[in-house]
Formats: sequence, structure tokens, C-alpha cells
Amino acid sequence: MAAFVLTARHRRTILVGLVLLFIVQSAITYTTATSVKDERAMYNEAASRGAQLYRDLNCTACHQLYGLGGYMGPDLTNTMGTPGKGPAYAKAFILHGTQRMPALGVTPEQADDIVAFLQAVDATGTHPIRHIDLTPWGTYRSMHDDAR
Ligand code: HEC
Repeated sequence: MAAFVLTARHRRTILVGLVLLFIVQSAITYTTATSVKDERAMYNEAASRGAQLYRDLNCTACHQLYGLGGYMGPDLTNTMGTPGKGPAYAKAFILHGTQRMPALGVTPEQADDIVAFLQAVDATGTHPIRHIDLTPWGTYRSMHDDAR
């Protein structure tokens, strides 16, 4: 029985093939973007002011974003996209507080900015991760198809 021998030519062909596959895979990985579904919820100026208020008022002391923060109140990552919650619901909490959450003395305009920030956060993904839709080459097809 003749032993199967890899000639120098075979080896060169395999090497070239692997290098080509590597280049194609890298090209796909670096050119495939994850899409942001909700254009309204982009990180705009209002969201940026809201982010500053979120820091100044120390919402993080009691709330988490992406699971990080205090644990007195709920995680706010997807409050805006959760059915039955959303901007008006959040604004009511932020303006008036509840028995368990203090009213923080913000104006309605400031509350709108904080809501814009929370909408921008909501558009970035889900926490906890509910479903990962991967392409065959290992990138995310969509990070939040099932977020709402
Ligand atoms: C002293 C702790 C504390 C601080 C500070 C605080 N919260 Fe809360 N928050 C809570 C608690 C507790 C709840 C749950 C209240 C309830 O159900 O009565 C809550 C509820 C909420 C909700 C409703 C969430 C949901 O999923 O139902 C939103 C939105 C919210 N807070 C936003 C904020 C924002 C924005 C800030 C900062 C401006 C903030 N909170 C600061 C304690 C806090």
C-alpha cells in the first residue's frame, strides 16, 4: 500500500488555501456591523445631558445598567423597551418617586433628558442577554431582535 506523501507542492497549496480563508474571514469580521434598530434612541444631545444627570444624581447608587450598580432599585438597561413600561412610566418615577424611590427634585425637562439617556442605553442591547443570534463567522447578526 502506497503511503500518502505530502509533497512540497501539496503543502504550499494547503498553506495558500489557509491564508486565503484567514483573509476572507477577517474581511467579513471587520466589515460586518451590528445594527442599531431604533434610530430615535441614538445617543443624541438630550441623552448626553441625561447621562450627566444620571451621574450627578447618583442613580447608580440604587440602580444597575448592564447589571452594574446598586441593588436597591431594579436594573434600568431595558426599562424603556419593556412592554408596559417605557418613557412615560419612567418619567413618573423620576419626577415623583415612590414610597421606595425618593423624588430627586428634577424638572420635567431634566426628566426628559434622563429618559432620552435611558432610551439610548436600551438601544445598545439587552441585560441579561436573552438570545445571541450569531452569524456562521462568529459576529452578532443582531443584538436586540428580541429585546422588545
Ligand atoms: C435611593 C435609591 C434610588 C435612587 C437614588 C434612584 N432610584 Fe429609581 N428606584 C428606586 C427603587 C427602590 C425603585 C423601585 C420603586 C418601586 O417599585 O416603588 C426605583 C424605580 C425606578 C424606576 C422604575 C423601574 C422599573 O423597571 O420599574 C425608574 C425608571 C427609576 N427608578 C429611575 C431612576 C433614575 C433615572 C434615578 C436617578 C435620577 C433614580 N431612579 C434614582 C431607588 C432609587
